[in-house]
Amino acid sequence: MAKLFHGGIIATGSYVPEKVITNHDLEKIVDTSDEWIVTRTGIRERRIADKDTATSDLATIAAQRALERAHLTAQDIDMIIVATVTPDMHFPSTACLVQKNIGAVNASAFDLEAACSGFLYGIVVANQFIATGLYRNVMVIGAECLSKFINWKDRNTCVLFGDGAGAVIVSRVEEGYGFLSQILGADGTGASLLTLEAGGSRRPASFETVEKQLHYIHMEGSEVFKFAVRIMASMAEEAVKRAGLTKEEVDFLIPHQANIRIIEAARKRLELPEDKVYVNLDRYGNMSAASIPVALDEAVRLGLVKKGDNIVMVGFGGGLTWAACAMRWAV
Ligand code: ACO
Repeated sequence: MAKLFHGGIIATGSYVPEKVITNHDLEKIVDTSDEWIVTRTGIRERRIADKDTATSDLATIAAQRALERAHLTAQDIDMIIVATVTPDMHFPSTACLVQKNIGAVNASAFDLEAACSGFLYGIVVANQFIATGLYRNVMVIGAECLSKFINWKDRNTCVLFGDGAGAVIVSRVEEGYGFLSQILGADGTGASLLTLEAGGSRRPASFETVEKQLHYIHMEGSEVFKFAVRIMASMAEEAVKRAGLTKEEVDFLIPHQANIRIIEAARKRLELPEDKVYVNLDRYGNMSAASIPVALDEAVRLGLVKKGDNIVMVGFGGGLTWAACAMRWAV
């Protein structure tokens, strides 16, 4: 077999829109309270894109920031993967729009849809191209404008989500660093728990689909919650085991930011103190595929992650899907 190379993240970047919607703002729109939202989810506010901004706009800024930090030019990028459930449109892909915006003329580009697990799916795919030596630099972006697909009259969903984008560059790194374990999973029997039905080939957009509000996100919250608590804890543990690490050797956990109670389940399973888990869902809510890369970028910029640290990332989402990985920080 040909020589395999070690892949890892060499740079991060992120962007969130400026407009803030607080829980108190939502109290004026739906029958809810700041107290209910904070206690049940941990969310206090979220960022919302303005009416002219789409997912590729957020993704482009995050991508440019990651390039700057990597000291690379857009021409150095061989492939762009955008993980999103809220693309600008069905096609062309959001990845092609980002490729044009940043001028990555040598890059192939495609979107990847695995809901909130999409970013971790993306870096696992990216790492295969690095490991085989086919590509040198793959950009993986998680980007969402969920606010455009939310029914702002549905208190079950509108309090949970926000908009944002995070980007990383996956490249060759020194031996002993980079990805140590990677897990992907799916269970399509849970497909109906999280849906956006209208506009596909099963339910093409029509007056009827709009009338029935099928162009919005629908969620069986408590069923998703039970699945999430179980899978986040077990996959975080599994990623550590498959990396050949012990729990004591884990330095930092970057979980998907859906609900503080779900994050707590993963933290407790890894027996980590609170300051070893990055949490920003109080400020941003659930940004689906963007949650993990935005959290990672913030942790890196705050200096919380240093070379040689063992980091676990774990997420779950619609599909149902899940993903986890352990990595030794390489830069
Ligand atoms: N304000 C006030 N009350 C509310 C609100 C609200 N915003 N939303 C729901 N309620 C009410 C419900 O109507 C219900 O009332 P009832 O008992 O009279 O029927 C009550 O609160 C309890 O509802 P539950 O759904 O049982 O509350 P729970 O403790 O499960 O919390 C939540 C709900 C926060 C949605 C939780 O289930 C959750 O976090 N689920 C996971 C969601 C998630 O992570 N999705 C991620 C995937 S997203 C993606 O992939 C794109």
